[in-house]
Amino acid sequence: MKNTQKFITDNKDKFLKELVELLKIPSISADPTYKKEVLLTADEIAAFLKSAGADNVEVCSTKGYPIVYAEKIIDVDLPTVLVYGHYDVQPADPIELWTSPPFEPVIKPTEIHPDGAIFARGACDDKGQMFMHIKAFEAMMASNELPCNVKFMIEGEEEVGSENLGHFIKANKERLAADIILVSDTGIIANDVPSITTGLRGLSYVEVEVTGPNRDLHSGLYGGCVANPINILCQMIAEMQDEDKRITIPGFYEDVQPISNEEREEMARAPFSEEAYKKALNIDAVVGEKGYTTRERGSIRPTFDVNGIWGGYIGEGAKTVIPSKAFAKISMRLVPDQSPEKITALFQSYFESIAPAGVKVKVTPHHGGEPAVTPIDSAGYQAASRAMEQTFGKRPVPLRSGGSIPIVALFEKVLGLKTVLMGFGLDSDAIHSPNEHYGLFNFYKGIETIPYFYQFFQEEHAKGNQ
Ligand code: BES
Ligand code: MN
Ligand code: MN
Repeated sequence: MKNTQKFITDNKDKFLKELVELLKIPSISADPTYKKEVLLTADEIAAFLKSAGADNVEVCSTKGYPIVYAEKIIDVDLPTVLVYGHYDVQPADPIELWTSPPFEPVIKPTEIHPDGAIFARGACDDKGQMFMHIKAFEAMMASNELPCNVKFMIEGEEEVGSENLGHFIKANKERLAADIILVSDTGIIANDVPSITTGLRGLSYVEVEVTGPNRDLHSGLYGGCVANPINILCQMIAEMQDEDKRITIPGFYEDVQPISNEEREEMARAPFSEEAYKKALNIDAVVGEKGYTTRERGSIRPTFDVNGIWGGYIGEGAKTVIPSKAFAKISMRLVPDQSPEKITALFQSYFESIAPAGVKVKVTPHHGGEPAVTPIDSAGYQAASRAMEQTFGKRPVPLRSGGSIPIVALFEKVLGLKTVLMGFGLDSDAIHSPNEHYGLFNFYKGIETIPYFYQFFQEEHAKGNQ
């Protein structure tokens, strides 16, 4: 990997310039206004893969946004790494809270990233991280040091539920045959504390609507006499957690796998400062389920959160009105072995059952996803662990994450493949928030580490490790 590493060192500026260009395209999958830009981004990714030396580069159309596929098969007897990532990004709003425009990348140092960070929507999630794989591949190709076969599958609908990717993998099982899936769409604990993600939470996402009177009413003439849908919705939401922050939906915890004391002790060994956590968020207390630590609440325990709530008058000044309707969007993060379909159904029947007389309620399920855990004794994990140890000088800590990448569970179910989640972002990189950024240290560290993954995976594979 010597020549590969030299190529990376020699091309750092070029790589960064290319990423800046990629980040200028607003590939927001959730907002149809940006359709042209999302499609353009797919074409750009395909062009990068082609010029890096990939074969059979194809922008595969789907019912939604295309999936970019590419491959380099050097020897059928060598193992194959299937790289997954996404080129779509979250919407940028609230736009007024950005210190620089979300699609005009700027590089500046921060306290955590003294060497500079690139500020733009998608910098970390996931354009910056996905791009590391294309650049690492380019470096291995240019140096003639690619140790494995490689396939790329880069989608444009991760932030909206990956529905079409699900269909794509079911329809392309043979083409996607591989030995491991490698993903950089997660994070590490800190730049001097490398970690590998060994689990993701699942997701059940619902929208609710509470309807009271058939029209907005004068809150003086009717106030006190009819059910106010916003008041009712707030009460219903409050009822869904008890004073210990346990979720009250009957059966909600039924399939939650208990966690062993060993695993809890192992988790507690990963460095974490509650004081620093509170300081970073400017809060005076953490709040969560009784009996669990903040780390546990944020990874191995399920959640119930309102993501948005609206209704009634929210314009300037005061308007005296009892609204006809109230709405909320609610997410429930799930852990093994909870099923999103079952949890959504349990939510729906409970929500309907606690609706008081005087209102009607409607529950609309959105996309969901299953939780996933990945083994740490596999060839893939070992290769990632050795690769990070090589470049960070420290053995990475295995750690379950609170985020979701719903397609990971499907990779296992449909393709029978394990996933290695070797991400390089930090929790403080503000993904999905205003001022998302990605450390240059992390960007380059990722590009340097990925070739070692290939090398060590090939070695582990040759030893017969699965
Ligand atoms: N890359 C994130 C997920 C993530 C981030 C996992 C950091 C672990 C650590 C991904 O793009 C994402 O945002 N997923 C969504 C789920 C999706 C169905 C919208 C999420 O977790 O909200
Ligand atoms: Mn992502
Ligand atoms: Mn995301």
